[in-house]
Amino acid sequence: MEETLLVIKPDAVRSGHIGDIVSRLEQAGFRITGMVMRQLQRAEAEEFYTVHRGKDFFSGLVDFIISGPVVAVRVSGDDVRRRLRDFVGATDPAKALPGTIRRDFGTSVRMNAVHAANPDEDVERELNFFFPAVEAKK
Ligand code: RTP
Ligand code: MG
Repeated sequence: MEETLLVIKPDAVRSGHIGDIVSRLEQAGFRITGMVMRQLQRAEAEEFYTVHRGKDFFSGLVDFIISGPVVAVRVSGDDVRRRLRDFVGATDPAKALPGTIRRDFGTSVRMNAVHAANPDEDVERELNFFFPAVEAKK
């Protein structure tokens, strides 16, 4: 059993797609074990996206992610880290496969509706960011 993190980004929250995205997860059989809405402060967003520090898109990404509230969703199940990434689709919505969340709700490389924790990065750190210690394990 694995846990991973999905974040519904401010563009999708603004356009009223929280319910659609959560519904698609459930219909696809993903089990949701945590959910929280947060408005991130700049320093928090920089910490969350620390792996991207120094990249040319970093400041634009941080500006975007603090432009409104996000909804963090904890997803649990077998092999969910890999499966959720596939379900979300490619970073660029125009290149994401039909039926993926980014293809249907993303509008640009930056405003791509959702974040899904990358299994090659520190998934536990990302989960703890939104679902700290005492709540993190179930
Ligand atoms: P995520 O972390 O959000 O699940 O997306 P990802 O792994 O597919 O993409 P990543 O390379 O980790 O990039 C993180 C987020 O930064 C924004 N981005 N903008 N060239 C650009 O302007 C650019 N490249 C990436 C996107 O919001 C991307 O999801
Ligand atoms: Mg990433």
